[in-house]
Amino acid sequence: MIIKNFTKDLLTPVAKLCRQSMELDIMPDFLLEEKIFHEPDYNPELTLVAFSENNSEPVGFIQAVVKARKDESIGYVKLFCVAPDYRRKGIGKKLYEAVEEKIKAQKIKLIRVYESYPNYFMPGVDPFYTEAISFFERMGFKKFSDTSNLICDLVTQDFDTANDEKELSEKNIICKRADESDKEKISQWLKINFEAWIPEVAEAYKNNPISLHIALDGDEMLGFSAHEVNNRGTGWFGPMGTSAAARGKGIGSILLKRCLNDMKEIGHNKAIIPWVGPIPFYMNYVNAKMQRIFWRYEKNME
Ligand SMILES: CC(C)(COP(=O)(O)OP(=O)(O)OC[C@H]1O[C@@H](n2cnc3c(N)ncnc32)[C@H](O)[C@@H]1OP(=O)(O)O)[C@@H](O)C(=O)NCCC(=O)NCCS
Repeated sequence: MIIKNFTKDLLTPVAKLCRQSMELDIMPDFLLEEKIFHEPDYNPELTLVAFSENNSEPVGFIQAVVKARKDESIGYVKLFCVAPDYRRKGIGKKLYEAVEEKIKAQKIKLIRVYESYPNYFMPGVDPFYTEAISFFERMGFKKFSDTSNLICDLVTQDFDTANDEKELSEKNIICKRADESDKEKISQWLKINFEAWIPEVAEAYKNNPISLHIALDGDEMLGFSAHEVNNRGTGWFGPMGTSAAARGKGIGSILLKRCLNDMKEIGHNKAIIPWVGPIPFYMNYVNAKMQRIFWRYEKNME
């Protein structure tokens, strides 16, 4: 087996490998391109492709990243697969061990699986990939939590918020699409309230129209919701948040519906509401239902 660093010419064959290896997921070429080249911490040394001697097509792929978090830097296995006909031959282990060694050399003490926000594919391991569960547990990972993605039907629902917004406006609260002039106040507010989501909100500004809605009381930020900032083109909602003092006024439901309405306008039939979160909130306002479950794994290397 030969292991090479990922290079741009391998994008199409590696995307094909991902599609063939991950039967519960989609991986169009454009999505793999986003996962690799829109990754702010992309490191070609941690993005490896395995080839078998008798096959010119790639048979294994791993993308790992290291991210500086609040208290420490964390390593992530961001994408990982081996072609079905090449499994149980040690290819996954070799790929994983190659990146673990490089991550350890950076004095990183913790590695997690997928969940590499702000640019992540899925928020953990789908346990229906039983091989992956077996693999990561064998490599010394421990399950520490779980989470889920919800799915919301956009076709059968009406996300008109006019009446609710009228009621809020009587309390001096307005909801609107964010524009350039809001950028600075949003960023200041996020720093205090939702620091982890600053990069995802920045991505919303790259879309046309800006895929970010906000609630304001005069000049004071109260909440936001975004979409099309991760897994672009696949109907991915979020993140969203309302400041603690402004909760319970119906702001969140309006911001949520404004985004879902945008997504419906784009032509999506469904929205994925990932890595939740307040399930009853989404079920109550937009009839969102459980779509997938994810187990969160980490390996402590201390
Ligand atoms: C997970 C995956 C990458 C493993 O690749 P692989 O090349 O088959 O893994 P390896 O041969 O290196 O396996 C290493 C160890 O993991 C465990 N393991 C891997 N596959 C297993 C299986 N099907 N059943 C039980 N244990 C398994 C074993 O302990 C194995 O060691 P052993 O063969 O000496 O017993 C591969 O199954 C895959 O691509 N699955 C689909 C995509 C996927 O789930 N990606 C990750 C999503 S989070």
